[in-house]
Amino acid sequence: MTTHVIAIDGPAGSGKSSVSRQVAKRLQWIMLDTGAMYRAITWAVLDQQIALEDFESIGRVAINSEITIHTDPDNSQVFVGDHDVTQGIRSPEVTAAVSAVSALASVRSRLVDLQRSTVADAEYGVVIEGRDIGTVVLPDARLKVFLTADPRVRAQRRGSELGQDLSSQDLDHMEATIRERDAKDSGREISPLQAASDAINIDTSDLTQEQVVERIVQLAREVYPEISNPSP
Ligand code: DC
Repeated sequence: MTTHVIAIDGPAGSGKSSVSRQVAKRLQWIMLDTGAMYRAITWAVLDQQIALEDFESIGRVAINSEITIHTDPDNSQVFVGDHDVTQGIRSPEVTAAVSAVSALASVRSRLVDLQRSTVADAEYGVVIEGRDIGTVVLPDARLKVFLTADPRVRAQRRGSELGQDLSSQDLDHMEATIRERDAKDSGREISPLQAASDAINIDTSDLTQEQVVERIVQLAREVYPEISNPSP
C-alpha cells in the first residue's frame, strides 16, 4: 500500500484532470479521476432510463454497476460492465445530470469505498483528483492541492477544449453553466466542494498548465523527499 498521495480538488474547468494526468506521468504514479466515476454511474442511470428523482433506483445502480477505470495516466478508459463509456461520460446529458446523481449519499458511499480501495492497492504513488478528496476521501493525505480559476477563464478553457471559437454570448452562457455547477457542487449537503484547511491553494487563472504541473511536482518533492528520480 502506498503512502505517496497527492489529493487534487477544485471546481469544474480548473484544469484538475489535465494537470493531474501530467503530474502522474512526471512522477510515474497512477492517477484516479473520481469525477469519471460519478459520470460512469450517471451514464448507467441515464442508460437505464431512471428518473433523477428516483433515489432508490439510483442507489441500486450505484451498488450493482461494475465500474472499471484505468489508472494509467496514458489511458483514460472507463467501462460500465462491458460498455466502453470513455466518450459517453463526457456527453452534455451526463454533464447535466451528474451533479444530481453525485449529491446522493448512496452513490457517494459506494464510490468513496472504491476510491479508497484503489489507493490502498496502489504500489507506489497516486494522484487522485475530485471535489472531496482532501476533505472526505483521504483526509490524512500529506499533500493536498486545491486548484481554482476565474469562471470566465474556465469557460474559455472549456471552449478551447471543445475546439471551438466561442462568441462572447457563448462564453457568457458557458460561464453561467460553470457557476451553476459550482453552486450545486459547493452547496450540497454531503461532501460539498471545498478546500481542506491544510490544502495548498493554487489560482491557475494566469498560469499555464505546465507551470501548475511544475509547482505540484516541486511540492511533491518537498513533501516526499524520498521519491527517487522522477522523469523530467
Ligand atoms: O470533474 P468532473 O466535472 O468530471 O466531475 C463530474 C461531477 O462529479 C461534478 O459535477 C461533481 C462530481 N464529483 C463529486 O461530487 N465528487 C468528486 N470527488 C468528483 C466529482
